[in-house]
Amino acid sequence: MGKTYRIAVIPGDGTGPEVISEGLKVLKSASARFGFTLDLTSYDFGGGHYKRTGETLPAGAIDELKKFDAIYLGAIGHPDVKPGILEKGILLALRFSLDQYINLRPVKLYPGVWTPLKDKGPEEIDFVVVRENTEGLYTGSGGILKKGTPDEVAIQTSINTRKGVERCLRFAFELTRNRNRKKTLTLCGKTNVLTYAFDLWERAFHEIGAMDYPDIKREYAHVDATCMWMVKNPEWFDVIVTDNMFGDIITDLGAIIQGGMGIAAGGNLNPEGVSMFEPIGGSAPKYTGKNVINPLAAICAGQMMMDYLGEKDAADAIEKAVMRVTGEKLKSLAAGKMGYSTTEVGDMVASLVAP
Ligand code: IPM
Ligand code: MN
Repeated sequence: MGKTYRIAVIPGDGTGPEVISEGLKVLKSASARFGFTLDLTSYDFGGGHYKRTGETLPAGAIDELKKFDAIYLGAIGHPDVKPGILEKGILLALRFSLDQYINLRPVKLYPGVWTPLKDKGPEEIDFVVVRENTEGLYTGSGGILKKGTPDEVAIQTSINTRKGVERCLRFAFELTRNRNRKKTLTLCGKTNVLTYAFDLWERAFHEIGAMDYPDIKREYAHVDATCMWMVKNPEWFDVIVTDNMFGDIITDLGAIIQGGMGIAAGGNLNPEGVSMFEPIGGSAPKYTGKNVINPLAAICAGQMMMDYLGEKDAADAIEKAVMRVTGEKLKSLAAGKMGYSTTEVGDMVASLVAP
C-alpha cells in the first residue's frame, strides 16, 4: 500500500489555475502508476480573493497550511492590484512564515528546447541555484523618513544572520554531495563591495566547507561575473549558492537559458517543515483563459514536489515524459507557439506517465 500525501493546492491568479490543473493531471497519472495517493485541498488565495475580501492570507491560514505534506502553488499577481501587496501579503508571507529558507531552482536544458545560448546544449546547461529565501533584502527591514519631501530618506537593509546563512550553505553543500557531479559549490556574492554581508557568507562558506565537506570543491564568483559565466560557460557550474536578492536575479537569467518561463520551476523548501513548489513564471495575465500557456513549468514543479516527498520513481517518470514532449513534440516552449494547447500538453505528459 503506497503512502498518502496531503497537498494544499493554491492555483492563484492569471494562468495559475490552468497550469496547476495540468500539473494535477500528471500527478494523478503518476499516483495511479506508482501506487501513492494524493489528498488534495484547494485554497483560493490570490488577487481575486483579495479584491473580494480585502485580505491577502486569511487569519489561521498559515497554521492550517502547516498540517500539509507540501503546497503546490500556481501564481500570485493580479493586474488590478498594486505591485507589492500580493507578493508581500501572500507569496513572501508564505515563504517567511513557513520558514522555507531554501529556494531551489534547477537550471536544466531539456532535449529539443531552444536556448538563446549559441553552441550550448543539454550537456552544458545543467546546474542548480540554491537561493537563500528568508533573509537579505527581502525582510522588509528599513523605512522611509520625511516621505514626499526634498529631505526624503529611504533605507532598505540586507539582513544576514549566521544561522540563516549557515543553514543555507549546509543545504547547498549536501545537495552538491548528493548530485555527485562536479562536486563543486560556487558561492555567488559581491565581496568587493558588500564587505559586511558577504564577509559573513564567505567566512561561513569556507569554515563549513573545510570542516564538514572536504570532498566538495569551493569556488567563489561575484554576482556580475556569475551572470557573465552563466551565459558564456554555463557548463562550469554544478551548484551555485547565493543570497535572496542575487538569487532572484540570477534565476531569471537561469530560466531564460533553460528555455524560458514555460519550463522553469522551483521549490521553496523548509527541510524541517512544509515546502512549497511553484512554476517561477508568474501569472501571465495576457494569456489567461486562452488555453495557450505552457504548463510544463507547473508540471516540473509537481515533479520536484514528488521527488522531495520521496517518490523518486514517479519524479523520474515525470521528468522523462517532459523530456520526450520537449524533444519530440513541442515546436517551442513559448505561450501560443507550442503547436499544442495547454491541455494537450498536459494530456501528452500525463499519458506518458500513466500505467
Ligand atoms: C520569484 C519572484 C518573487 C521574488 C516576487 C514575485 C516577490 O520574482 O519568485 O522569483 O522576488 O522572490
Ligand atoms: Mn524572481
